[in-house]
Amino acid sequence: MGYAISMPLAFDLVPGTKRTPAEQLTTILEEPGFVKHFSDHMAVASWTEAEGWHDSRIENYHTLQMPPGAAVLHYAQEIFEGLKAYRHEDGNVWLFRPEMNARRLRASAERLSLPQLPEEDFLTSVHRLVRIDEAWVPSGEEMSYYLRPFVFADEEFIGVRSATSASYMVIGGAAGPYLSDALTAVDIWLTTDYSRTGEAGTGAAKCGGNYASSLLAQRDGAIHGCSQVLFTDAATHEWIEELGGMNFFAVTDQGTLITPPTSGTILEGITRDSILALASDHGYGVDVRPLSVEELMTRTQAGEMVEAFACGTAAVVSGIGNIKYRQGDQVLELNFGQKVGEVTRTLRQALVDIQWGRAEDTHGWMHPVKEL
Ligand code: PLP
Ligand code: COI
Repeated sequence: MGYAISMPLAFDLVPGTKRTPAEQLTTILEEPGFVKHFSDHMAVASWTEAEGWHDSRIENYHTLQMPPGAAVLHYAQEIFEGLKAYRHEDGNVWLFRPEMNARRLRASAERLSLPQLPEEDFLTSVHRLVRIDEAWVPSGEEMSYYLRPFVFADEEFIGVRSATSASYMVIGGAAGPYLSDALTAVDIWLTTDYSRTGEAGTGAAKCGGNYASSLLAQRDGAIHGCSQVLFTDAATHEWIEELGGMNFFAVTDQGTLITPPTSGTILEGITRDSILALASDHGYGVDVRPLSVEELMTRTQAGEMVEAFACGTAAVVSGIGNIKYRQGDQVLELNFGQKVGEVTRTLRQALVDIQWGRAEDTHGWMHPVKEL
């Protein structure tokens, strides 16, 4: 796609915006759910083929007005990111590896044929929004402010082609646990009936369509008491890939972590990458290689795979209790125990201690929210 040269975006605050009264905000932050309420402001920038990125601002969070003919509503030309800001004990607010989200948004844009937002502009937008809505960053245990940057094709046009205009926005809000807390194991539905993406598809991109295609399997899983779905490869359904919104790890009785490589069909999770680094720091083995459903089942039943967990920005690290799956007319269970395993707990703790500033940030992952 050809680009006009864009100047750095300032994301200045539009004068006269509104703020939620302190008392009301306190009530919201006491029980935030997972972004039940969006914070007061949002970051916005526009892109056209002719002008490049322009017209950036921070304005009130508001309802969008979009023509019904906007391309995103028909062809799902859309991508998004998820990252969190954390309030440390001294009151300061920090972002976790935001440059990785900036880079991944660009990679997703490339795959979805959307304009790439320069990484500096991404960083300006998230720093500015968090700074302006800093009162919304909670300080409770395991509470954070979740940011959702996204880009979508807003051109009013019914033909199928890359849109010539797009919008970038960042919204956010206070977030408690998404899936489970540190101590609760969740049940997962292993599907061989549906795929979220296939070879050379959009699996490595963070685009809305991947999530839409996961929902029917998730409904299937919910019927069997599972909150998330573990997907297998589209071609054979013999290889473990990832969950609808998280990466997957198994842990052997020798303390080695196994996770599939992210070659094309799996999202390159930033939490996954961090867990791999922390596992090495803690002296655990890491084995990034294809993991078959059969190996997972036989070695778990033989007591050689003793833990499994899912990880992602929203979910942090969630221990898996049972993996449920259909075999013929029956629903069977692969059991990892009702408690979250020791390796899972250790790595989860190591990660959250860095994120909340309780442990030394030896990898340089944390970035203080700056006045830009
Ligand atoms: N896989 C999928 C499909 C996801 O949606 C996510 C969540 O963002 C992840 C993995 C984990 O990625 P990250 O750790 O960067 O949040
Ligand atoms: C995230 O973890 O940030 C995601 O985008 C995943 C989604 C399931 C909430």
